[in-house]
Amino acid sequence: MLKDDNQKKDGKHILICLSGSISAYKAASLASALVQEGHEVQCVATESALQFIGPAALEGITRKPVKTEMFANSSEIEHIELAKWADIILLYPASAATIARLRMGLAEDLVSAIFLANNFQVPYWIATAMNNQMLENPATRENLSILSGWGARLLETEPGLLACGEIGTGRLMEPEIVQAMIGEYFQEL
Ligand SMILES: Cc1cc2nc3c(=O)[nH]c(=O)nc-3n(C[C@H](O)[C@H](O)[C@H](O)COP(=O)(O)O)c2cc1C
Repeated sequence: MLKDDNQKKDGKHILICLSGSISAYKAASLASALVQEGHEVQCVATESALQFIGPAALEGITRKPVKTEMFANSSEIEHIELAKWADIILLYPASAATIARLRMGLAEDLVSAIFLANNFQVPYWIATAMNNQMLENPATRENLSILSGWGARLLETEPGLLACGEIGTGRLMEPEIVQAMIGEYFQEL
């Protein structure tokens, strides 16, 4: 299916940044759906994200190594190159800790450094995933509101059963919905 030239022509560069949430496995489904549509997908993960999903699944799906380390390849300034490469950047899933790091402008890991290096020149979408209390905490609410004010698009969480066993509103948006939103976004360009 990737050999279809028409699909390849319309394929975009999609950067999926994963942070440490139990819902990180959904990024594999999202990456898979996007690759099948003919997009090039590159995954970048925090160290914590890789506690929840191993790189092999993401690499097998995207056919690209998962990038985690800022200093892995010193012949390229990875965060700058990746920010330039992307047509859209998704933080999927977005953990409370990474959201706080972005709000503070801390470029101390690859995911945060890419956020700073992009500076909203291409769309930056944030799909939060967390327990209700974490989501409703004033720290998280304020961080998200500031990121939205700067130009990030916040994807709505969904109500339902959370990993902690509670019913809440902090569930990660399902991959199919994000996939459809990306399709609409590129169609409207
Ligand atoms: C089992 C488990 C599930 C977790 N799920 C979430 C989550 O859904 N959302 C979240 O913000 N943090 C969650 N955390 C906490 C984060 O993984 C933790 O804050 C981590 O430091 C985030 O790092 P990162 O933002 O650099 O990826 C979870 C932790 C554990 C142990």
